[in-house]
Amino acid sequence: MTVTQVASVGRASSLDLVQITEVAAIAAAHWMGHGDNRRADQAAVEAMRKHMDTISFNGRIVIGEGERDEAPMLYIGERVGNGQGTEVDIAVDPLEGTNLVAKGRANSIAVMAVSEPGGLLHAPDTYMEKLIVGPPAKGKVDLDRPVAENLKIIAQSLNRDVEDLTIIILDRPRHEKLINDVRVAGARIKLIDDGDCPAAVSVAVAGTGVHAVMGTGGAPEGVIAAAAMRCLGGEVIGRLAFRNDDERARAKRMGITDEKRVYRTEELASGKDLRFIATGVTDGELLQGVRFFAHGVRTHSLLADAVQGTLRRIDTHHYDDPAHPPVLRLG
Ligand code: FBP
Repeated sequence: MTVTQVASVGRASSLDLVQITEVAAIAAAHWMGHGDNRRADQAAVEAMRKHMDTISFNGRIVIGEGERDEAPMLYIGERVGNGQGTEVDIAVDPLEGTNLVAKGRANSIAVMAVSEPGGLLHAPDTYMEKLIVGPPAKGKVDLDRPVAENLKIIAQSLNRDVEDLTIIILDRPRHEKLINDVRVAGARIKLIDDGDCPAAVSVAVAGTGVHAVMGTGGAPEGVIAAAAMRCLGGEVIGRLAFRNDDERARAKRMGITDEKRVYRTEELASGKDLRFIATGVTDGELLQGVRFFAHGVRTHSLLADAVQGTLRRIDTHHYDDPAHPPVLRLG
């Protein structure tokens, strides 16, 4: 077996990138269960933004918290990093699952995707209609095909019956018809309150027991999930779903001419040098949440690298006083 050598010259350090989601996750985790979405989100955004400026890269947010007039930090178009390193584009969600943290529920993460300039869809933070499948069904499903047909294809690709599939759908009134169609087709459904980005990633990971994500969620989450799939082999098919004319006009200014365009994974995340980075905030299926202990904090992160073809699980102990590390307990 060979280990892919990636020229590190000019490439932002992966460990530096992981620290960005780690600090955001730690900041947000302090607000777990406090019932305060805004402060949890704000803590993640501020910590992430501040830490980014200590890192050697010249970054641009291409899809994220909103636009300059609505998001004070990490707005679309904002420059981040210390400006000294290589140029990168970033899709970011400092706290994916704000409500989940506020309620102390599972599966919230701090997450971002990084590519060379132009490698991630530049779009407003509108909604996106999504169909997300794992590697076996990649290239076989279609957003405009009837739900029952897509389910049949997914089932065939996994060598099982439709009845044995589990589909994740955000529990929203707008999904009433979709939920009914999936039920009529016979597949099982896992309705989630929030967090379709970690759900998307879990579709590409064998053993999680979920086989597709369907329905409309945030566009930034869709772009970030596509970057993850470029690293893990699955598929995100998406179509932007605008809420109003203002979003349409913003999209136009960002170069989106066909409002109804269906994007496949390689169009949502077209970059060659793609990395997906996530740190757990609350415990979840993919990642453990932040754990506070007497002399520090422990975080659990994922780093997927499309160039290296690697998926790393990173378990980090952060000591309050690096000169006096506490006794570590592994596992
Ligand atoms: P945030 O925590 O970043 O706000 O996103 C949570 C989330 O559930 C996403 O996972 C999902 O894509 C989106 O919100 C769905 O939007 P809405 O709650 O408006 O249906």
